[in-house]
Amino acid sequence: MLDLADELKRLQHAREEHHLLPGRTLGMIFQKPSTRTRVSFEVGIYQLGGAGLYLSAGDLQLGRGETIKDTAVVLSRYLDAIMIRTFAQADVEELAANASIPVINGLTDSSHPCQALADVMTIRERFGRLEGIKVVYLGDGNNVCASLMVACAKLGMDFVAATPPDYRPADEAVVIARAEGHSVELVDDPLAAVEGADVLYTDVWTSMGQDDERERRLRDLAGYGIDEELLARAGSEAIVLHCLPAHYGEEITEDVLYGRQSAVWDEAENRLHAQKALMALVIR
Ligand code: CP
Ligand code: NVA
Repeated sequence: MLDLADELKRLQHAREEHHLLPGRTLGMIFQKPSTRTRVSFEVGIYQLGGAGLYLSAGDLQLGRGETIKDTAVVLSRYLDAIMIRTFAQADVEELAANASIPVINGLTDSSHPCQALADVMTIRERFGRLEGIKVVYLGDGNNVCASLMVACAKLGMDFVAATPPDYRPADEAVVIARAEGHSVELVDDPLAAVEGADVLYTDVWTSMGQDDERERRLRDLAGYGIDEELLARAGSEAIVLHCLPAHYGEEITEDVLYGRQSAVWDEAENRLHAQKALMALVIR
């Protein structure tokens, strides 16, 4: 998938047509806001020769109590694939279990696998390899952390999550990642964690759906943000990733986000290429 993503990126930059999915349609169900996921999927399916439909959950009968099962069965009669961003992971799995077309997870409370695809694509692009790369995730062990951890473990990278004890990634994801046999460490000291890191990664401290907890999270996570000083400890060759959106001065400073070591903007672009490769491989 990563090889195909690199090739599709090259073709897109060269403005060479690559209609791998002519006439196919992707329905995109959103129960949470989005900038990158929405635009990269919609543009991506278009560049592959197909079309995308933005389906706000509030505008679907789903929002008035139609079941996920009935929605899955009916949408499977019209569409070639569904991308869904929602709260419960179980809802994505129920949709997938009842649909006869591929269902792509566009973020849930517990995972964000499409983000992880773009992240590993970006790491490989920068370092020319994945095996043995040390990725240090700092801050809240959330959905983005969980998917990144699993992706790193599957691809032979060493993963460290430096979080306060109450903000560790979910056990379920840790078990999946550790089963791959590579190093997955959970620590609470950000300064020690970044020594020897190739990649520093962070995400917002308050995810969508957690706004009521914002004050507590700001207090608990203070000291886990990436600034110039922390980055200097990792060394001048380390890169910084962030899935975005960012909150300057909380989990990352504006200087670092726009600094020489930031690969954040390539990472955001790579959502497009990675998801095009994913769609090309799973949609019939
Ligand atoms: N990183 C990411 O998923 O961004 P959006 O919330 O803008 O889609
Ligand atoms: N952890 C964040 C990621 C946003 C792309 C959230 O779930 O809101």
